[in-house]
Amino acid sequence: MLVPSDRKNRPHAFLPHQAVIPAAGLGTRFLPATKAMPKEMLPVVDKPAIQYVVEEAVAAGIDDIVMIIGRNKNALANHFDRVTELEHTLERKGDHDKLARVVEPSALADIHFVRQGDPKGLGHAVLRARKHVGNETFAVMLGDDLIDARDPLLSRMIEVSQNRSATVIALMEVEPSQIHLYGCADVETTDEPDVVRVNALVEKPAADEAPSNLAIIGRYVLKPEIFEVLAQTAPGKGGEIQLTDALEELAADESIAGPVLGVIFSGRRYDTGDRLDYLKSNVLLALDRDDLGPELKTWMQELTATFD
Ligand code: G1P
Repeated sequence: MLVPSDRKNRPHAFLPHQAVIPAAGLGTRFLPATKAMPKEMLPVVDKPAIQYVVEEAVAAGIDDIVMIIGRNKNALANHFDRVTELEHTLERKGDHDKLARVVEPSALADIHFVRQGDPKGLGHAVLRARKHVGNETFAVMLGDDLIDARDPLLSRMIEVSQNRSATVIALMEVEPSQIHLYGCADVETTDEPDVVRVNALVEKPAADEAPSNLAIIGRYVLKPEIFEVLAQTAPGKGGEIQLTDALEELAADESIAGPVLGVIFSGRRYDTGDRLDYLKSNVLLALDRDDLGPELKTWMQELTATFD
Protein backbone atom coordinates (compact mmCIF):
# COMPACT_ATOMS: atom_id res chain seq x y z
CA MET A 1 0.00 0.00 0.00
CA LEU A 2 1.22 3.50 -0.81
CA VAL A 3 1.64 5.82 2.10
CA PRO A 4 2.70 9.46 1.74
CA SER A 5 6.29 8.77 2.82
CA ASP A 6 6.60 6.22 -0.02
CA ARG A 7 6.02 8.98 -2.52
CA LYS A 8 9.42 10.43 -1.88
CA ASN A 9 11.02 7.20 -3.05
CA ARG A 10 8.93 6.77 -6.20
CA PRO A 11 9.19 8.46 -9.56
CA HIS A 12 6.96 11.48 -9.04
CA ALA A 13 5.69 11.61 -12.61
CA PHE A 14 4.03 8.19 -12.35
CA LEU A 15 2.11 8.66 -9.13
CA PRO A 16 -1.17 10.56 -9.20
CA HIS A 17 -0.83 13.65 -7.03
CA GLN A 18 -3.97 15.57 -7.95
CA ALA A 19 -7.54 15.16 -6.78
CA VAL A 20 -10.70 16.79 -8.05
CA ILE A 21 -13.39 17.34 -5.43
CA PRO A 22 -16.74 18.38 -6.89
CA ALA A 23 -18.39 20.66 -4.32
CA ALA A 24 -21.01 22.56 -6.28
CA GLY A 25 -24.14 20.72 -5.11
CA LEU A 26 -26.99 22.68 -3.58
CA GLY A 27 -27.40 20.48 -0.51
CA THR A 28 -31.17 20.76 -0.56
CA ARG A 29 -31.57 17.74 1.74
CA PHE A 30 -30.12 19.82 4.57
CA LEU A 31 -32.20 22.97 4.17
CA PRO A 32 -32.39 25.32 5.96
CA ALA A 33 -28.87 24.57 7.33
CA THR A 34 -27.50 24.86 3.80
CA LYS A 35 -29.38 28.03 2.87
CA ALA A 36 -26.36 30.26 3.45
CA MET A 37 -23.64 27.64 3.97
CA PRO A 38 -22.31 24.96 1.63
CA LYS A 39 -23.24 21.43 2.67
CA GLU A 40 -19.55 20.51 2.56
CA MET A 41 -19.03 22.79 5.58
CA LEU A 42 -21.47 20.90 7.82
CA PRO A 43 -19.42 19.74 10.81
CA VAL A 44 -18.85 16.08 11.50
CA VAL A 45 -18.00 16.23 15.22
CA ASP A 46 -15.85 19.38 15.03
CA LYS A 47 -14.48 19.42 11.49
CA PRO A 48 -16.30 20.29 8.28
CA ALA A 49 -17.07 17.19 6.20
CA ILE A 50 -14.86 18.44 3.36
CA GLN A 51 -11.77 18.51 5.59
CA TYR A 52 -12.03 14.74 6.14
CA VAL A 53 -12.02 14.27 2.37
CA VAL A 54 -8.96 16.49 1.91
CA GLU A 55 -7.18 14.66 4.74
CA GLU A 56 -7.99 11.34 3.07
CA ALA A 57 -6.50 12.64 -0.20
CA VAL A 58 -3.33 13.78 1.56
CA ALA A 59 -2.99 10.41 3.32
CA ALA A 60 -3.01 8.76 -0.14
CA GLY A 61 -0.16 10.95 -1.39
CA ILE A 62 -2.20 13.73 -3.05
CA ASP A 63 -0.74 17.22 -2.67
CA ASP A 64 -2.78 19.24 -5.16
CA ILE A 65 -6.55 19.59 -5.02
CA VAL A 66 -9.05 21.25 -7.32
CA MET A 67 -12.46 21.95 -5.85
CA ILE A 68 -15.22 22.56 -8.33
CA ILE A 69 -17.50 25.03 -6.62
CA GLY A 70 -20.76 26.84 -7.23
CA ARG A 71 -22.10 30.14 -5.96
CA ASN A 72 -22.03 30.86 -2.21
CA LYS A 73 -19.04 28.63 -1.69
CA ASN A 74 -16.70 31.27 -0.28
CA ALA A 75 -16.75 29.53 3.10
CA LEU A 76 -14.85 26.64 1.49
CA ALA A 77 -12.07 28.90 0.25
CA ASN A 78 -11.96 30.65 3.63
CA HIS A 79 -11.73 27.38 5.52
CA PHE A 80 -8.58 26.29 3.68
CA ASP A 81 -6.98 29.76 3.92
CA ARG A 82 -4.99 31.36 6.74
CA VAL A 83 -6.90 33.59 9.18
CA THR A 84 -4.21 35.80 10.63
CA GLU A 85 -6.17 37.78 13.25
CA LEU A 86 -7.55 34.62 14.85
CA GLU A 87 -4.12 33.00 14.70
CA HIS A 88 -2.52 36.02 16.42
CA THR A 89 -5.20 36.07 19.13
CA LEU A 90 -4.68 32.39 19.89
CA GLU A 91 -0.92 32.85 19.83
CA ARG A 92 -1.15 35.73 22.32
CA LYS A 93 -3.29 33.57 24.59
CA GLY A 94 -0.79 30.74 24.27
CA ASP A 95 -3.58 28.40 23.14
CA HIS A 96 -1.40 26.20 20.95
CA ASP A 97 -3.94 23.38 20.59
CA LYS A 98 -6.57 25.60 19.05
CA LEU A 99 -3.94 27.43 17.00
CA ALA A 100 -2.83 24.13 15.47
CA ARG A 101 -6.44 23.26 14.64
CA VAL A 102 -6.95 26.63 12.92
CA VAL A 103 -3.75 26.42 10.88
CA GLU A 104 -4.06 22.73 9.94
CA PRO A 105 -6.57 23.02 7.04
CA SER A 106 -4.44 25.65 5.29
CA ALA A 107 -1.33 23.48 5.47
CA LEU A 108 -2.79 20.24 4.11
CA ALA A 109 -2.29 20.69 0.36
CA ASP A 110 -2.34 23.19 -2.49
CA ILE A 111 -6.04 23.84 -2.95
CA HIS A 112 -7.45 25.52 -6.05
CA PHE A 113 -11.00 26.54 -6.83
CA VAL A 114 -12.76 26.40 -10.18
CA ARG A 115 -16.33 27.61 -10.61
CA GLN A 116 -18.60 25.14 -12.33
CA GLY A 117 -20.75 27.76 -14.03
CA ASP A 118 -23.81 25.86 -15.22
CA PRO A 119 -24.66 23.00 -12.84
CA LYS A 120 -24.79 20.36 -15.56
CA GLY A 121 -23.93 17.30 -13.50
CA LEU A 122 -21.00 15.39 -12.01
CA GLY A 123 -19.41 14.62 -15.38
CA HIS A 124 -19.51 18.29 -16.28
CA ALA A 125 -17.97 19.26 -12.92
CA VAL A 126 -15.05 16.84 -13.46
CA LEU A 127 -14.56 18.16 -17.01
CA ARG A 128 -14.12 21.66 -15.55
CA ALA A 129 -10.84 20.45 -13.99
CA ARG A 130 -9.36 19.48 -17.36
CA LYS A 131 -7.05 22.48 -17.79
CA HIS A 132 -5.71 22.17 -14.27
CA VAL A 133 -5.16 18.39 -14.31
CA GLY A 134 -3.63 18.21 -17.78
CA ASN A 135 -2.35 14.88 -19.09
CA GLU A 136 -2.10 13.00 -15.79
CA THR A 137 -3.90 10.28 -13.88
CA PHE A 138 -5.90 11.87 -11.07
CA ALA A 139 -8.38 11.07 -8.31
CA VAL A 140 -11.99 12.21 -8.02
CA MET A 141 -13.43 12.30 -4.52
CA LEU A 142 -17.07 13.07 -3.75
CA GLY A 143 -17.65 15.02 -0.57
CA ASP A 144 -20.82 13.20 0.48
CA ASP A 145 -18.93 9.93 0.89
CA LEU A 146 -16.81 9.91 4.00
CA ILE A 147 -14.39 6.99 4.22
CA ASP A 148 -13.18 6.14 7.70
CA ALA A 149 -9.46 6.94 7.94
CA ARG A 150 -8.90 3.54 9.57
CA ASP A 151 -9.97 1.78 6.35
CA PRO A 152 -7.83 3.31 3.58
CA LEU A 153 -9.40 3.00 0.15
CA LEU A 154 -7.87 5.59 -2.16
CA SER A 155 -4.29 4.39 -1.67
CA ARG A 156 -5.37 0.85 -2.62
CA MET A 157 -7.14 2.19 -5.73
CA ILE A 158 -4.02 4.12 -6.75
CA GLU A 159 -1.96 0.97 -6.30
CA VAL A 160 -4.33 -1.07 -8.51
CA SER A 161 -4.41 1.71 -11.11
CA GLN A 162 -0.59 1.79 -11.23
CA ASN A 163 -0.13 -1.99 -11.31
CA ARG A 164 -2.68 -2.60 -14.05
CA SER A 165 -2.59 0.69 -15.90
CA ALA A 166 -6.33 0.95 -15.34
CA THR A 167 -9.13 3.33 -14.54
CA VAL A 168 -10.32 2.35 -11.06
CA ILE A 169 -13.63 2.97 -9.33
CA ALA A 170 -14.65 2.17 -5.76
CA LEU A 171 -17.53 -0.28 -5.39
CA MET A 172 -19.49 -1.35 -2.34
CA GLU A 173 -22.27 -3.86 -1.85
CA VAL A 174 -25.57 -2.21 -0.95
CA GLU A 175 -29.07 -3.49 -0.27
CA PRO A 176 -30.76 -4.11 -3.65
CA SER A 177 -33.50 -1.67 -2.57
CA GLN A 178 -30.85 1.09 -2.39
CA ILE A 179 -29.15 0.57 -5.75
CA HIS A 180 -31.38 3.15 -7.48
CA LEU A 181 -29.42 5.82 -5.56
CA TYR A 182 -26.06 4.88 -7.13
CA GLY A 183 -24.14 4.08 -10.26
CA CYS A 184 -24.20 0.27 -10.57
CA ALA A 185 -21.55 -2.06 -12.02
CA ASP A 186 -21.71 -5.30 -13.99
CA VAL A 187 -18.46 -7.07 -13.04
CA GLU A 188 -16.39 -10.23 -13.24
CA THR A 189 -13.77 -11.48 -10.81
CA THR A 190 -9.98 -11.16 -11.22
CA ASP A 191 -7.12 -13.00 -9.50
CA GLU A 192 -7.24 -10.47 -6.63
CA PRO A 193 -10.18 -10.89 -4.25
CA ASP A 194 -10.85 -7.16 -3.81
CA VAL A 195 -10.48 -6.28 -7.50
CA VAL A 196 -13.13 -6.83 -10.20
CA ARG A 197 -13.20 -6.11 -13.88
CA VAL A 198 -16.01 -3.73 -14.81
CA ASN A 199 -17.87 -4.82 -17.96
CA ALA A 200 -20.65 -2.22 -17.86
CA LEU A 201 -22.04 0.58 -15.75
CA VAL A 202 -25.48 2.09 -15.38
CA GLU A 203 -26.39 5.25 -13.47
CA LYS A 204 -29.10 4.84 -10.83
CA PRO A 205 -30.96 1.82 -12.27
CA ALA A 206 -34.33 0.62 -10.98
CA ALA A 207 -33.86 -2.37 -8.64
CA ASP A 208 -35.25 -4.83 -11.21
CA GLU A 209 -32.91 -3.56 -13.93
CA ALA A 210 -29.71 -3.40 -11.87
CA PRO A 211 -26.96 -5.76 -13.08
CA SER A 212 -25.71 -6.26 -9.49
CA ASN A 213 -25.88 -4.77 -6.00
CA LEU A 214 -22.41 -3.21 -6.39
CA ALA A 215 -22.73 0.55 -6.04
CA ILE A 216 -20.17 3.13 -7.10
CA ILE A 217 -19.10 5.04 -4.02
CA GLY A 218 -17.50 8.41 -4.54
CA ARG A 219 -13.84 7.54 -5.18
CA TYR A 220 -12.34 7.26 -8.67
CA VAL A 221 -8.81 7.07 -10.10
CA LEU A 222 -9.11 8.34 -13.65
CA LYS A 223 -6.82 8.62 -16.64
CA PRO A 224 -6.74 11.86 -18.60
CA GLU A 225 -8.51 10.19 -21.56
CA ILE A 226 -11.71 10.55 -19.52
CA PHE A 227 -11.80 14.27 -20.35
CA GLU A 228 -12.20 13.72 -24.08
CA VAL A 229 -14.93 11.15 -23.43
CA LEU A 230 -16.71 13.51 -21.02
CA ALA A 231 -16.56 16.29 -23.59
CA GLN A 232 -18.52 14.02 -25.95
CA THR A 233 -20.94 12.60 -23.36
CA ALA A 234 -24.57 13.59 -23.89
CA PRO A 235 -26.79 14.40 -20.90
CA GLY A 236 -28.07 11.19 -19.31
CA LYS A 237 -30.05 10.43 -16.15
CA GLY A 238 -31.77 13.56 -14.83
CA GLY A 239 -30.68 15.52 -17.91
CA GLU A 240 -27.14 15.76 -16.45
CA ILE A 241 -23.75 14.84 -17.89
CA GLN A 242 -22.97 11.72 -15.90
CA LEU A 243 -19.47 10.56 -14.98
CA THR A 244 -20.89 7.02 -14.91
CA ASP A 245 -21.86 7.28 -18.61
CA ALA A 246 -18.32 8.32 -19.58
CA LEU A 247 -16.90 5.43 -17.55
CA GLU A 248 -19.35 3.06 -19.25
CA GLU A 249 -17.90 4.19 -22.57
CA LEU A 250 -14.37 3.36 -21.33
CA ALA A 251 -15.51 -0.03 -20.00
CA ALA A 252 -17.12 -0.87 -23.34
CA ASP A 253 -13.98 -0.02 -25.36
CA GLU A 254 -10.64 -0.84 -23.78
CA SER A 255 -8.76 0.68 -26.72
CA ILE A 256 -9.59 4.17 -25.37
CA ALA A 257 -7.75 4.00 -22.03
CA GLY A 258 -7.24 0.37 -20.99
CA PRO A 259 -9.50 -1.55 -18.59
CA VAL A 260 -11.92 -0.22 -16.00
CA LEU A 261 -11.50 -2.03 -12.68
CA GLY A 262 -13.37 -1.84 -9.41
CA VAL A 263 -11.91 -2.07 -5.91
CA ILE A 264 -14.50 -3.60 -3.60
CA PHE A 265 -14.60 -1.64 -0.37
CA SER A 266 -15.77 -3.39 2.77
CA GLY A 267 -14.69 -0.79 5.34
CA ARG A 268 -16.56 1.97 7.11
CA ARG A 269 -18.23 4.57 4.89
CA TYR A 270 -20.64 7.31 5.94
CA ASP A 271 -22.99 9.07 3.55
CA THR A 272 -22.94 12.58 4.95
CA GLY A 273 -25.34 13.68 2.20
CA ASP A 274 -28.13 11.74 3.92
CA ARG A 275 -29.49 13.20 7.17
CA LEU A 276 -29.78 9.95 9.11
CA ASP A 277 -26.37 8.71 7.98
CA TYR A 278 -24.94 12.14 8.77
CA LEU A 279 -26.18 11.87 12.36
CA LYS A 280 -24.82 8.33 12.64
CA SER A 281 -21.41 9.39 11.35
CA ASN A 282 -21.21 12.12 14.00
CA VAL A 283 -21.98 9.60 16.74
CA LEU A 284 -19.64 6.89 15.43
CA LEU A 285 -16.68 9.23 14.93
CA ALA A 286 -17.24 10.95 18.29
CA LEU A 287 -17.41 7.56 20.05
CA ASP A 288 -13.97 6.84 18.67
CA ARG A 289 -12.46 10.03 20.10
CA ASP A 290 -10.54 9.99 23.39
CA ASP A 291 -11.84 13.42 24.40
CA LEU A 292 -15.53 12.70 23.72
CA GLY A 293 -16.00 8.93 23.33
CA PRO A 294 -16.11 7.66 26.94
CA GLU A 295 -18.62 10.27 28.16
CA LEU A 296 -20.76 9.97 25.05
CA LYS A 297 -20.86 6.20 25.46
CA THR A 298 -22.00 6.41 29.07
CA TRP A 299 -24.65 8.95 28.13
CA MET A 300 -25.86 6.75 25.25
CA GLN A 301 -26.08 3.72 27.53
CA GLU A 302 -28.19 5.72 29.96
CA LEU A 303 -30.30 7.09 27.15
CA THR A 304 -31.00 3.72 25.51
CA ALA A 305 -32.00 2.29 28.89
CA THR A 306 -34.91 4.74 28.87
CA PHE A 307 -36.19 3.43 25.49
CA ASP A 308 -39.20 1.10 25.44
C1 G1P B 1 -23.02 10.29 -7.71
C2 G1P B 1 -22.75 9.41 -8.94
C3 G1P B 1 -23.18 7.97 -8.66
C4 G1P B 1 -22.49 7.46 -7.41
C5 G1P B 1 -22.75 8.41 -6.22
C6 G1P B 1 -21.91 7.99 -5.02
O1 G1P B 1 -24.40 10.41 -7.53
O2 G1P B 1 -23.44 9.94 -10.06
O3 G1P B 1 -22.86 7.15 -9.75
O4 G1P B 1 -22.95 6.16 -7.12
O5 G1P B 1 -22.41 9.76 -6.54
O6 G1P B 1 -22.17 8.76 -3.90
P1 G1P B 1 -25.06 11.53 -6.54
O7 G1P B 1 -25.07 10.90 -5.18
O8 G1P B 1 -24.18 12.72 -6.61
O9 G1P B 1 -26.43 11.77 -7.07
